[in-house]
Amino acid sequence: MVQHKLSIMRDIRTGSKDFRELLKEISLLMGYEITRDLPLENVEIETPMKKMTARVISGKKLAIVPILRAGLGMVDGLLTLLPVAKVGHIGLYRDETTHEPVSYYCKMPIDIDQRLVIVTDPMLATGGSSSDAITMLKNMGCNNIRLMCLVAAPEGVKRVQKDHPDVDIYVAALDEELNSDAYILPGLGDAGDRIFGTK
Ligand code: PRP
Ligand code: URA
Repeated sequence: MVQHKLSIMRDIRTGSKDFRELLKEISLLMGYEITRDLPLENVEIETPMKKMTARVISGKKLAIVPILRAGLGMVDGLLTLLPVAKVGHIGLYRDETTHEPVSYYCKMPIDIDQRLVIVTDPMLATGGSSSDAITMLKNMGCNNIRLMCLVAAPEGVKRVQKDHPDVDIYVAALDEELNSDAYILPGLGDAGDRIFGTK
């Protein structure tokens, strides 16, 4: 389902409304993968039939941290799955000439350093934005960070793995390469513009 939905998203004919809905659905489906190894603990409960030992998530506090703007498109799907997660925001944009990320906003839950943090950004291109966002979180004391992207270029995966070997990266697709403007090929174009209809 993830691959099918992603193919529709990539199609140039897909408009913002469908693009947003599909990104939300894929985020929920990827949320299953990203949370599948969370530790469980036993609790005693009573069903209408009898007492039993049941398994629940073991007190793991979560935070979702989208990289603005495009990462916002992955928040709702994850919140559907993880309704009590807190949400922090990191604002970064890529300089059009240097392709280096420029930071303009950061607001986190007060106890961010005690949470498992899922950083979201649909596009992992050069990896500069994700790597910088993870560095910002580490500087705030976070030591349990996962990165969730939709489409990645090999260059971006290598960069984040080199800068942050402790951070697991979850992607729906590993694409071919970057073009001279540091856009992913074949990719899906500019994710922020496609989500928000700004082009
Ligand atoms: C896009 C995308 C990532 C970044 C990826 O954001 O959403 O944040 O580029 O590129 P990188 O891996 O080379 O850093 P952009 O800077 O276009 O900002 P926007 O989301 O506000 O449109
Ligand atoms: N940002 C995007 O939105 N798309 C790309 O292909 C690369 C960076």
